Amino acid sequence: SASADPYDVVVVGGGPGGYVAAIKSSQLGLKTAVVESRGKLGGTCLNVGCIPSKALLHSSHLYHEATHNMASHGISVGDVSMDVGKMMENKDSKVEGLTGGIEYLCKKYKVDYIKGFGKLGGPNTVNVDLTEGGLQSLETRNIVIATGSEVTPLPPVPVDNAQQKIVDSTGALELKEVPKSLVLIGGGVIGLEMGSVWARLGSKVTVVEFLDRVCPSMDHEITKAFTRVLKKQGLKFKLKTKVTSSEVTESGVKLTMEPSKGGASSTMEADVVLVATGRRPFTANLGCDELGISLDKMGRIEVDPHFRTAVPSVFAIGDCISGPMLAHKAEEEGIACVEGIAGFAGHVNYDAIPGVVYTYPEVAEVGKTEEALKEAGVAYNKGTFPFSANSRASCVGDKDGMVKILSDKETDRILGAHILGPNAGEMIAEVVLAMEYGASSEDIARTCHAHPTLSEALKEACMATYDKPIHF
Ligand code: FAD
Ligand code: NAI
Repeated sequence: SASADPYDVVVVGGGPGGYVAAIKSSQLGLKTAVVESRGKLGGTCLNVGCIPSKALLHSSHLYHEATHNMASHGISVGDVSMDVGKMMENKDSKVEGLTGGIEYLCKKYKVDYIKGFGKLGGPNTVNVDLTEGGLQSLETRNIVIATGSEVTPLPPVPVDNAQQKIVDSTGALELKEVPKSLVLIGGGVIGLEMGSVWARLGSKVTVVEFLDRVCPSMDHEITKAFTRVLKKQGLKFKLKTKVTSSEVTESGVKLTMEPSKGGASSTMEADVVLVATGRRPFTANLGCDELGISLDKMGRIEVDPHFRTAVPSVFAIGDCISGPMLAHKAEEEGIACVEGIAGFAGHVNYDAIPGVVYTYPEVAEVGKTEEALKEAGVAYNKGTFPFSANSRASCVGDKDGMVKILSDKETDRILGAHILGPNAGEMIAEVVLAMEYGASSEDIARTCHAHPTLSEALKEACMATYDKPIHF
């Protein structure tokens, strides 16, 4: 039944893009609903992405500390064992708590949460196939599409998560036991994070990557150092290699592969194979075509700088449009989009979106890589500082890694920062803020940093862009 009083905003999809847009919209005084078909709010990120992966990364890190690093501190822990079921329970309870928290926030800010699959019925109508059965038609002045993304299938290696042999990231978050051997197809963020979890728990992990390096969009100097660290942790790499076919056997999976450029094929067996070769926008059965909303070659919804699609009352944000597929990017877009709808000047600065890989140590980046600056012909200064020369890193025994700062040769304005090291994901926030304010690297270098902290390595890398660091 159509409601008499239309909504101002109906958001389709309750992930970090969608639920944040909905809450902000309601806070701005707009009558708002969010439609979600999963049964839980929080989207990919809270249910099968950021949060469960970080819970498993933390559990496996503790196990690794207990089995490898505590003895040197004089702590003996006897026989250490890992109950995978208990680890999964802990992860599930964290997910449960946070998704429930989002539902609470929607109530608190008076967002109507409608459980079901939303379809565009017209420029001002969302028809919902209700989860509990039946159909509800929502009339609205504006629609925000926030339907997110899904795993891109790799045809020679079909995923069946239930079987626990060839899995995607969702399956890798649910394994019932530690595989003796695990092959990751794709050396991107998902592969390296999930590979780290299972490697720490004892799996022999091999990364099969099509290109000549892992995390191909990362600054190359950082990738090299990162790969060295991962090798020390026991990960093996088969670069410039493509998988051409797979066969599920009684004991696991048999993969056939060959050099990316073609050549002699070889085979490899593993207990479990994780397909992590990328994600694609999810807009299936939404009704974009029927309404005249255009998609680009990669299936992303095309929008203008204010997130407006080809239909003026319909907007789109997050993983289903262009740009990095990151939760915080989706959230920023959600807020800017509804601020625009409410008549304010919402804006996202795409030059200052951090990216973090939550391995150990972490990798965190913002802005331009050295390769991108070279390619664009921008003259730059470069300052680096290794964690081996940072006193706090020595105290905690985490000496791998470095900070690298790139600044404009003429103005010293910070153009990029790349950190491989403990807590890099928290440290990068300082550079993101500095970049938002148009700071120079000297601004950070002349800012007093507490001693002894890891962030002093950042300060000294900034010193090194225009002068010399003190401790190296
Ligand atoms: P999504 O989170 O995908 O949400 C879209 C929601 O819309 C889904 O819940 C879906 O069920 C719903 N939906 C779709 N169509 C409809 C419809 N027609 N009607 C109703 N509901 C619909 N990003 C980070 O920033 N940090 C991380 O550490 C990180 N880790 C990740 C780990 C993994 C394993 C994965 C897979 C991803 C990770 N990401 C991470 C990426 C992050 O999850 C996404 O960038 C983010 O979730 C995108 O948010 P979104 O709101 O655009 O879409
Ligand atoms: P990705 O794009 O990060 O990496 C995919 C990798 O697979 C690339 O290195 C690519 O060269 C390689 N590849 C592609 N096709 C291949 C093939 N046929 N054979 C072998 N290798 C192949 O994608 P990934 O890891 O699946 O992650 C998807 C998205 O999820 C990312 O865009 C990322 O933004 C997001 N994510 C973010 C996280 C974070 O912020 N910490 C964590 C996990 C995911």
